[in-house]
Amino acid sequence: MRTKRFAAIALGAALAVTLAACGGEGASGGDGNESTSSSSAAQSSGEQAAGDATAAGDKTVGVAMPTETSERWIADGNAVKSQLEKLGYKVDLQYANDDIPTQSQQIDQMITQGVSLLIIASIDGTALSSQLDAAAAKKIPVIAYDRLINGNPNVDFYVTFDNYKVGVQQATALLVGLGFLNADGSDASNPPSDPVNIEVFAGSPDDNNAGFFFNGAMDTLKPYLDDGRIVVPSGQTDFDTVATLRWSQEAAQTRMENLLTSTYSGGTKLQGVLSPFDGISRGIITALQGAGFGPKLTDGLPVVTGQDAEIASVTLINQDVQQSTIFKDTRKLAAQAVSAAQDFLAGKAPEPNDTTTYNNGVKVVPSFLLESDIVYKDDIKSLLVDSGYYTAEQVEKGQ
Ligand code: GAL
Repeated sequence: MRTKRFAAIALGAALAVTLAACGGEGASGGDGNESTSSSSAAQSSGEQAAGDATAAGDKTVGVAMPTETSERWIADGNAVKSQLEKLGYKVDLQYANDDIPTQSQQIDQMITQGVSLLIIASIDGTALSSQLDAAAAKKIPVIAYDRLINGNPNVDFYVTFDNYKVGVQQATALLVGLGFLNADGSDASNPPSDPVNIEVFAGSPDDNNAGFFFNGAMDTLKPYLDDGRIVVPSGQTDFDTVATLRWSQEAAQTRMENLLTSTYSGGTKLQGVLSPFDGISRGIITALQGAGFGPKLTDGLPVVTGQDAEIASVTLINQDVQQSTIFKDTRKLAAQAVSAAQDFLAGKAPEPNDTTTYNNGVKVVPSFLLESDIVYKDDIKSLLVDSGYYTAEQVEKGQ
């Protein structure tokens, strides 16, 4: 199956150099070799890194990550830390266990201890205003990492993926799995002739990204819902009803179990579930299998989408259980955050590639958006193994 790649925003040459300078760290934190690094680029950026290390002196960068319960944030934290350390910076990396007061305290402490810059992946995008004000008072630049921080002017830069397109990709994968589209996005020659039943899940309502994913997905599904080719038998399609607080796997499993009881116990078929995140996908799959579906796609398990290419889900995709995920390369996101950090610490403003999309309620935050890829079973090797993100053994074992 061919990978449907949305050429969202091309990576700039600067990012390629940064990636080369940083080497590639796979999701597991192991040493992967970036396919983007030619030996001469690696050599010259290695020299540059040595110079930067001197310039970095003993500056500390505070890195606030939301949780260690999801493996992607561990990969993000490790990648940001190791790339900054290679450039000579000290790093104060903290995880907040998905607890808002813990994250606020961690950032307060970083500011008190005199960090030179903050990189923050927020838990609740609206809960950090006093921290951002304190950072601004001390002229500490703030980079929002993957999740936008809302309601405050003191967010200096935002590094993320094209989140609306991630939602489009999730719905596209669902439409491929249901037989409406071919893997290249073109219309299937023999689509389902009867209405197809799905249910939809969204992410955490306090995470700005969740709305972007949901809107991208629902806009893509809209023509099919409007003309009845796809039906949501529970009738639950508005964001607030289908949202999953803190992206919780357990909450998703419970909601899916409830849906199965309320809507499907009388024999109504369920063919697909739109899921915005691999943890939620695994909760949904557990509920479905517990109710007797599957256990595999080939045995009638509904098509379940995902996001983040977490290893547990990649293994499920390899085993024909989860249908797809969206790969957002944490090494590239980390490299972009590090590149922006270097610019700020050198007194320069980083170059955004989007200055219109991400309004945080107070201002449009200059952003750098990266591209993402749909991963079906046939793409695991080319996208995840060949790029050094995971080893074939990890894909086999699921860890
Ligand atoms: C979002 C992020 C997703 C996923 C989710 C749950 O903010 O963009 O990729 O990781 O959080 O952690």
